[in-house]
Parts: sequence; C-alpha cells; structure tokens
Amino acid sequence: MTPDEFRRHGHAVVDWIADYYARIESYPVLSRAKPGQIRASLPANPPARGETFDAILGDIEKLIVPGITHWQSPSFFAFFCANASGPAILGDLLSSGLGVQGMLWATSPACTELETHVLDWLVGMLALPEKFLSTSTGGGVIQDTASSASLCALLAARERATNYASNRRGCDGKLVAYTSTQTHSSIEKDIRIAGVGLDNLRLIEVDENFAMRPGALAQQIAADRRAGLTPCFVCATIGTTSSNAIDPLSEIGRICRENNIWFHVDAAMSGTAALCPEFRHTHAGVEFADSYVFNPHKWMFTNVDCSCFFVADRKALIQTLSVLPEYLRNQATESGAVIDYRDWQVPLGRRFRALKLWFVIRHYGVEGLQHHIRRHVELAQQFADWVKADNRFELAAPVPLNLVCFRHKGGDEVNQGLMDRLNRSGDLYLTHTKLANRTTLRLCVGQTNTEARHVERAWKRIQEEATRVA
Ligand SMILES: Cc1ncc(COP(=O)(O)O)c(C=O)c1O
Repeated sequence: MTPDEFRRHGHAVVDWIADYYARIESYPVLSRAKPGQIRASLPANPPARGETFDAILGDIEKLIVPGITHWQSPSFFAFFCANASGPAILGDLLSSGLGVQGMLWATSPACTELETHVLDWLVGMLALPEKFLSTSTGGGVIQDTASSASLCALLAARERATNYASNRRGCDGKLVAYTSTQTHSSIEKDIRIAGVGLDNLRLIEVDENFAMRPGALAQQIAADRRAGLTPCFVCATIGTTSSNAIDPLSEIGRICRENNIWFHVDAAMSGTAALCPEFRHTHAGVEFADSYVFNPHKWMFTNVDCSCFFVADRKALIQTLSVLPEYLRNQATESGAVIDYRDWQVPLGRRFRALKLWFVIRHYGVEGLQHHIRRHVELAQQFADWVKADNRFELAAPVPLNLVCFRHKGGDEVNQGLMDRLNRSGDLYLTHTKLANRTTLRLCVGQTNTEARHVERAWKRIQEEATRVA
C-alpha cells in the first residue's frame, strides 16, 4: 500500500468509524449471531491474490458487524463498561502508525517518557499517594489488563516475602494470599500462574454490603502464622465486579502493615471515580497500598487496552521481573538513568499505549473527565431511585457510584426471564450476578455517550417486560 493509497483508504476507514458511531443506536446492542455463524460466512481458504481495500472494508459491514456486540452503544449497561472516545481511537491509530515497540527506553525514548509523565499526572489527578510518583520511590506503568497488573503485584509480593528466593527455587507451598469472596476472578487466575496455589488463597468473608471483613482477615492471618505459613499478599477491591462493594482499605492496610504483607488495591473500574473529589472517600486508606491498579479502558474513555499500575517501591518490582540478556544491553540501560518498562511487566514487547491516554486527558481536560464521571454517577443514582419507587423491584446492594444491582421480587426465574427478554430485544444489554445466592440484575452506566434518555428508556423497557414476565 503506497502512502497515497494509505491516505485514501485511511480516510474511508475513519469515515466508516464516524458513520458507525452516528448509527450505533440502530443496531441490536447484543449481537444476535448464532455460534459458528460468522465463521460460516467467511471463505474457507485465504485469498491467493490480494484483494482491493474497498472489498475488505465492505466485508466489515456485511460479515463482521452482525457478530459485534456494541460495547460503545449508549444502551450498553452490561458487565463493567469499556468505553472509548474519539481522541483515544485516534491516539491508538497514531500508535499503530508509529509502530513502536517500547520494551526499552532506547527503543523509543518518547514511548517510555510520555508514559512515565502521564502516569505521574494520574497520581495527582486521582489524588493517589506521592510514593506512586516516578520522582519518588515508586512509579506507574501501563499494562494490557488489570489481570496482568495484579499478577505483577503478586509476583513482587511473593519475592519480597521470600527475600527473592522463590524466583530461584520456586514456591514451597507456604506462601498464603488473601482477598475477599467478592474478588475478581483474575486474582484466582493470578494465584495459579504465580505458583502460590489455590489451596493457599484465602477468600475472606464479607459483610452485608459485600465488603471484606477486616476482623476475619486478621484472624485468618494469625491462624496461618501459627500454622507456620507465610502470609505474603492481600488484595482489596474498590468497586467489586458483582456489586461495586468497596473494601475498607484503611483497616486492611493497617493489618498488612502490622504483618509486613504486600497490600494490593484493585480499582479496575471505580478508580476513575477518584478524579472527582466528592468520590475520593472510596479511596480512603489507599495510602497504605504497596500497589494499585485501575483501568482507563473501563471508565476513562480510553479504548481497550490500557490498565494503569502503580507501585510504591519500584525496586521490588524490577528485581522480581528483570532479566537482561546480552542482546538487550545498551548504554542507556547501563547508565541507570532511564526506565526500561520491560522490567515492569510480564511480556517483553509493549505498544505505545500512553499516546491514547495522553490524547484523552488533553482532549477532555481534568474538568471534562470529571463532568462525564459525575453525569454517569447521577444517572445511576436516578435509576436506583426509580427501582426503589417501584414496589415490584428492590435494590440488591448499596449504590456507591455508577453500578445498580437490583432485582424483581418475583425470584430467580423471573429475573433471568426478564433479562433474557430485554437482551433479546436488542434495545439494551444488561448482565447478572448472584448476590447472597440470588440472581441479581446489574445496570452499569459508563458508556461515553449514554444520556438521561438512554437510562430512562432502559427503565421503561425493564418495567414493560416486567409486566409481561409477571
Ligand atoms: C474489579 C475487577 N478487577 C479486575 C478486572 C479484570 O480486568 P482486566 O480485563 O483488565 O484484566 C475486572 C474486570 O471487569 C474487574 O471488575
């Protein structure tokens, strides 16, 4: 593809994306594709000769869009949001255009230094502790996902607890990790990968608001110590996936400090709320954390993937993950004056993700970001009020931010039926969870273009279908 052809086709792709956003509300939010349908529509063999770009782009609409669930639809209320925005998409395009692989500072200084700079900005924007600044003992890094970031935290915790012996000898089955019963499944996966072993993961009970009970944590740690085990890692969550519960960080943090345990905070979606001073109470106690992760690719208008991971002591992380073969040696690294982010993550290679984050922050400005986050929280709170006012429904958990957990009082089957009918209609997309063993519907407000009218329509549709299901 020549530069001129690239320019022409590039314009066509950008036009296609702009048109897609203009008509996104005309699609059923949840894809109606049947299993295997999309593959069946594709040719069995790859083309022997190259095809025209127009033919390829034409197939997006015809073959791919039917298999798309429209995460960027303003009526997408499922899971946790993964919102995108114009500046993020264009920043990502530029990153692809530059095609940089930023494993070392030397392989593109701007890739590393912009990342360090933007992550330092975020420490101030979210009012995180200064120890997470690169100018202090710590620093931030962009990872692909919170799953990977929490794995890195766990690996550093494992090494710190064993004085860096487990990297050499492997785990001895004595290391123990703690999190609540409501933790995200990624922590369980990380425990398996890190060799800690599921038998050594303690799931601490939660209170009536689904937040970890610090007393139960302290008791379990003491029992494990008495049994000759080595507690090494505690993960608390700001905004659990099922119900957006907020673990009491201050109490948990104090317990970790007394016991010299690595304290990791997973704020995957709800970390973004800390942009607004009035929501920073959700982060009370974050000053105790050894590490913290939040995903701009959930609620901060930056398309997947972009997960920001901060550590208080970068040396522990680097000592855990650094491997320096001859072919990566270079003067800048030897000088000790630069950051090589390959030592802060599992993969070697890395994309220039800071560009899209930088574009988002500059496009919206801090006040613009705050405005949108406040609007989402307001819409969710309004929805929660409607639920409370309809005696067929009840709230299933507190609503601290932008996620509403609610249920029809008719029982599990009614709720399942209600959700299936709504999702089949294509008008909106909701997902469910189990809270206190009961099927619970979740409505998460966080898509970039969701307005009052979308949430009003969602509630109207829920009420209509509730009448039918009942
Ligand atoms: C609380 C929490 N932690 C971690 C994750 C995993 O995020 P990622 O897909 O970035 O690994 C999620 C995903 O929804 C989550 O809700």
